[in-house]
Amino acid sequence: MSYKIWTDVNLLTMSDTGSAYGLINEAALVEKDGLINWIGNKADMPVHFNGEIINCSGAYMTPGLIDCHTHLIYGGNRINEFEKRLNGATYEDIANAGGGILSTVRATRAATEDELVSSSLKRLRQLEKDGVTTIEIKSGYGLDVENEIKMLRAVKKLDKISNVDVVATFLGAHALPPEYHDNRDGYINLIIKDMLPKVAEEKLATAVDGFLENIGFSYSEMERVFSAAKEYGFDLKLHAEQLSDLSGAGLAAHFNALSADHLEHLSESSMDLMQKSGTVAVLLPGAYYTLRDTKLPPIGSLRKRNIPMAVATDSNPGSSPVLSLKLMINMASTIFGLTPEEALAGVTKNAAKALGLSDRGLLKAGLRADMVLWDISHPAELAYQVGGSPVLSVIKNGNVVYQNT
Ligand code: NIG
Ligand code: FE
Repeated sequence: MSYKIWTDVNLLTMSDTGSAYGLINEAALVEKDGLINWIGNKADMPVHFNGEIINCSGAYMTPGLIDCHTHLIYGGNRINEFEKRLNGATYEDIANAGGGILSTVRATRAATEDELVSSSLKRLRQLEKDGVTTIEIKSGYGLDVENEIKMLRAVKKLDKISNVDVVATFLGAHALPPEYHDNRDGYINLIIKDMLPKVAEEKLATAVDGFLENIGFSYSEMERVFSAAKEYGFDLKLHAEQLSDLSGAGLAAHFNALSADHLEHLSESSMDLMQKSGTVAVLLPGAYYTLRDTKLPPIGSLRKRNIPMAVATDSNPGSSPVLSLKLMINMASTIFGLTPEEALAGVTKNAAKALGLSDRGLLKAGLRADMVLWDISHPAELAYQVGGSPVLSVIKNGNVVYQNT
């Protein structure tokens, strides 16, 4: 295999090089066998590399973007609820009336695996055009053994048929299914005794997630799910403190979870625990924006404590119908107050951390050659511009998988 050499490029490596964004100007990046083989100043490039040369004419390159929290696979849509909310209903009102997550559960149960794959592939292509090379997708709209497994198989299939790497998370503890409305323990038992063993045996997911909330599951219910998941060796993640403070992030940290996500109502004491465990804070500005939330996550305290902050779309039909991770870079900056550099780290190196992936998220020799080439004139332009597409090309494992023509 010969080399591929991207040259005359400004690299936003996101590594700790001492310069903002880990910037290397007038650089070159050399790829071989799907990995970054060499990276540095063009003038320092060893002469022995030969192969295809791609002159980037001063464009900027970032690591491939990583969307570390999505619910991309689902049946139907929730446009009617969007309209209801704008007529005064709240997200909780709709959920309590049997809509919300449960309405997507009905549509997802009614869909075949192939239908789920083809509807979500369209959405995945939108995200890919926007620079996403790795995505996490959760189950959680099946809520019974058959349909949770169907969703996770659909995730596997998406991974196989797309150029994007797809990481699966099991979210059986997303909502209480209607069949169990007066038997909460029965459903937790079903997750623990039937779902987890099957997901583990068929290797259908690497992580287990839950929704710890008044309209989801309680602290002690999630504690049971996490204890069982740990036994099988799953990584853990948690939807925590989105609508109220129930100490979910503290629970996640106690279990050494990879991430706690949402966090608008995060307390200082949960943050203490996250800081100790190294749990990543995943920020989801699309859900905040869609639900017209007013309580901001405590960015200043997270920053002060050096808790890594990731940013994701939370792409789902209810609280975040978002198909652009690039737009989340903007919202994380403009609405949440992250610096443009923090926001870019949120969709690259810290998103990799939130998924427990150490082979991507930075431009660095030895890591995957997943990159995005951007038609911008300053790194902060990635956060600054709303709409339009400055993507020139998306590169996965060294191959151009999308070219903006
Ligand atoms: O991350 N909060 C729970 N889960 C999703 C919403 C899912 C839905 O409304 O369908 C979220 O916001
Ligand atoms: Fe979510």
